[in-house]
Amino acid sequence: MSDPQPVYLSDYQPPAYRVTHTELTFDLDPAATRVKARLQIERQASVDATTPLQLDGEQLTLHALLIDGAPLANSDYQVTEQGLRIDQVPASFTLESDVELSPQDNTALEGLYQSNGMYCTQCEAEGFRRITFYPDRPDVMSTFKVTVIGDRQREPILLANGNPVEQGELPNGRHFATWEDPHPKPCYLFALVAGDLHKVEDHFTTQSGRKVTLQIWVEEENLQKTDHAMGSLKRAMAWDEQAYGREYDLDLFMIVAVNDFNMGAMENKGLNIFNSAAVLAHPDTATDNAFQTVEGIVAHEYFHNWSGNRVTCRDWFQLSLKEGFTVFRDQCFSAETNSAPVKRIQDVSFFRTAQFAEDAGPTAHPVRPDHYIEITNFYTLTIYEKGAEIVRMLCNLVGWEAFRQGSDQYFQRFDGQAVTIEDFVDCMAEASGLDLSQFMRWYSQAGTPEIDVHGEYDYAHGEYHLTLRQRTPATPDQVDKEPLHIPIAMGLVGTKSGQDLTLTLDGEKLGRQAVIHLRDDEQTFVFTDVAEAPVPSLLRNFSAPVKLHFPYSREDLAFLLTHDSDGFNRWDAGQRLAMLALDDLIAAHRNGVEKVMDSRVVEAFRSLLANAPADKAVLAEMLTLPSEAYIAEQQPIVDVDAIHAAREFIRQSLAMALRDEFMATFEANRSDDAYAPIPEQIAQRSLKNVALAYLVSIEDEQGLALCEAQFAADHNMTDVRHALTLLVHSDRDDLASPALKSFGEKWAHDPLVMDQWFSVQVSRPQADVIDRVKYLMAHPAFSLKNPNRVRALIGAFAQNRVNFHRLDGQGYALLADVVIELNRLNPEIAARLITPLTRWQRFDETRQELMRSQLERIQREPLSSNVYEVVEKALA
Ligand code: ARG
Ligand code: ZN
Repeated sequence: MSDPQPVYLSDYQPPAYRVTHTELTFDLDPAATRVKARLQIERQASVDATTPLQLDGEQLTLHALLIDGAPLANSDYQVTEQGLRIDQVPASFTLESDVELSPQDNTALEGLYQSNGMYCTQCEAEGFRRITFYPDRPDVMSTFKVTVIGDRQREPILLANGNPVEQGELPNGRHFATWEDPHPKPCYLFALVAGDLHKVEDHFTTQSGRKVTLQIWVEEENLQKTDHAMGSLKRAMAWDEQAYGREYDLDLFMIVAVNDFNMGAMENKGLNIFNSAAVLAHPDTATDNAFQTVEGIVAHEYFHNWSGNRVTCRDWFQLSLKEGFTVFRDQCFSAETNSAPVKRIQDVSFFRTAQFAEDAGPTAHPVRPDHYIEITNFYTLTIYEKGAEIVRMLCNLVGWEAFRQGSDQYFQRFDGQAVTIEDFVDCMAEASGLDLSQFMRWYSQAGTPEIDVHGEYDYAHGEYHLTLRQRTPATPDQVDKEPLHIPIAMGLVGTKSGQDLTLTLDGEKLGRQAVIHLRDDEQTFVFTDVAEAPVPSLLRNFSAPVKLHFPYSREDLAFLLTHDSDGFNRWDAGQRLAMLALDDLIAAHRNGVEKVMDSRVVEAFRSLLANAPADKAVLAEMLTLPSEAYIAEQQPIVDVDAIHAAREFIRQSLAMALRDEFMATFEANRSDDAYAPIPEQIAQRSLKNVALAYLVSIEDEQGLALCEAQFAADHNMTDVRHALTLLVHSDRDDLASPALKSFGEKWAHDPLVMDQWFSVQVSRPQADVIDRVKYLMAHPAFSLKNPNRVRALIGAFAQNRVNFHRLDGQGYALLADVVIELNRLNPEIAARLITPLTRWQRFDETRQELMRSQLERIQREPLSSNVYEVVEKALA
């Protein structure tokens, strides 16, 4: 077999044939489902009559093929591994096909597959070609009429996109349902679900007064876990009307929960399919975090109805057109429904850890890649989250009013079309009158820009000089980088007044906060009328996805931590202060020198606890040290053990120095109120639980007792899970073992809770973890075929810095074993799981060797194109 070949953006050609209408009939059977397709096909006027018809199709057995009712002879067409080719076709015709496929053997979870006996589909990006022969590309849009035939008993519920139009009985205990979707759509938005499902139903009246029926379909035992998703859906529908003027466009909107699902969820027209973990939530089984995730994903998929479905992507290189915009939309929605500064802090802290790492590694790619081998490998943090940061910058550059105008224009002009990123940005340029041509480089240039900033106060002239220099490091196949247009929101905080000073630039008064535009490699900005020496507060609210370096002293940072008017930068000053202390401790650990705690960090934390900001969730974030993964990102060579030791040292030093303060914070924030996933309660719980974590880190007897009591009280999953984690991650196995046991027994019937039980155990720092992983892989609740289980056990283990990176290489070998097995079962998940191994360049030589040798071992296997592409890049 030849190596998989890349596809190039520059090779894009519009489709030669369009499908104007699609009729499908599914006769469901676990091993031999039959799919009959009737496609109305038209040759594009500009296309030569001799152009053959090429349809995509994989793993399909073709039983019949007809054009305008006449069967084709074998010599009229060719079937390959990739699809079907018919050399001679009329300009306009009906193509009928009848194919067979086996949902029960589909462990890749792309196309039509079975999950817990239920039939479901995942077609984005290229899954539809596993259902029928079709031009499986997003720029072919068609109306659909779909009939599903199933067993009356086993599949009482038969769903597809759009509106139900007919249903009835058939011989042999079979029945059918027919659905029609009036909105032309690309086939990646097709969906079908059939099984023994139960629904909750609600309604939403749109701003123009149309009543929409909302349904959430789940397995019967999950009916009581749907309230939060339904509430979130209604909030999202209202928000999209109010914020973007977007109304829902069908009479029915359905969500289905599926246990086996590769990603979070999928925005199929009118029939969103969700990973059960992304839709089900109940106070007894889901944490605050899970509630917020559900809300965000329900909103995200709903928002796709416009940003993705009504206006879709021309080709998969434009994926960020819908994903970046939709993530930005869901982030804004969640910020408004929860605490806005905390949402931003959490998003950015994740982004700077995970996306920066991706941008610095061998799989780095632009937000609009120019080539790929396997598109499912490109559902990445870069396409999604960096894409969202770019849209956020655009929004800030042009201002909300112009952004909204541009968005209205985009939806109106391109409704029903498959378009490009330029089409979107052009609307913004038109609405604002701004020249965004340099800005477009954000889409084509990979890597994280670094900005070195130098600031100087000129006492004599009352001026502040700010010099910024940008550079973007080379990334795979992009060595030379051009300067980007980088908006930097900033203020100058007066060291005497502690206030933002009025900014005057080039004689123009800009107010107390301004956005400066860095466009050149180097630029100097001179602020005049600066009456007192300031500390600059730069990149406020993370105004651009860059690494900004400024030689802040610890005094500067302590000052910003209390005085910065920007909540995000107050938090960031605390993180930077902790990072300086961590750097010293990491060095001390490496040099075998005694570790000494920086008293400035202690004092900063003391004053935070004494003068708590009003938003408790913000305080909880400020009291949280940078994660080991984030610290690792800041080091030239990652020293796993030194990072762990340094962070533990700071944590415990803070806990010892501020023991009474943490105890008081814990006590002040306990509550017996009935659980609700509302911002005030979430904030209070997170603050209380941060305090408890400090107390348990030093095995404070009273703290441990409180932790045990919190576990035993069983008030809500957030508190129970947190207490369990603290016990299991402590050295007190006498307390951890009984807690783990009772938790495991209590929740044995609930896979989503068992996922938490798996993760907690394999993320502890103790050295027994590798054996636990192996032991748990044989647990009856575990299965390699279920992506959630794999993520909970194997994925969580690979995030366990000290244990995954063991010097004997056992962690790497275990991950490679799983990747090799999953490569056969589920290539998409296998390829994702490799990520930590691809970061080998960041470690010491011994680990580099060990990691590379596992990658090479994987490379010797017969590989799916997914795994092939990732391993190839990692070893290049
Ligand atoms: N469009 C979906 C979402 O972001 C994700 C689909 C991912 N599909 C895949 N095969 N990776 O909501
Ligand atoms: Zn999406």
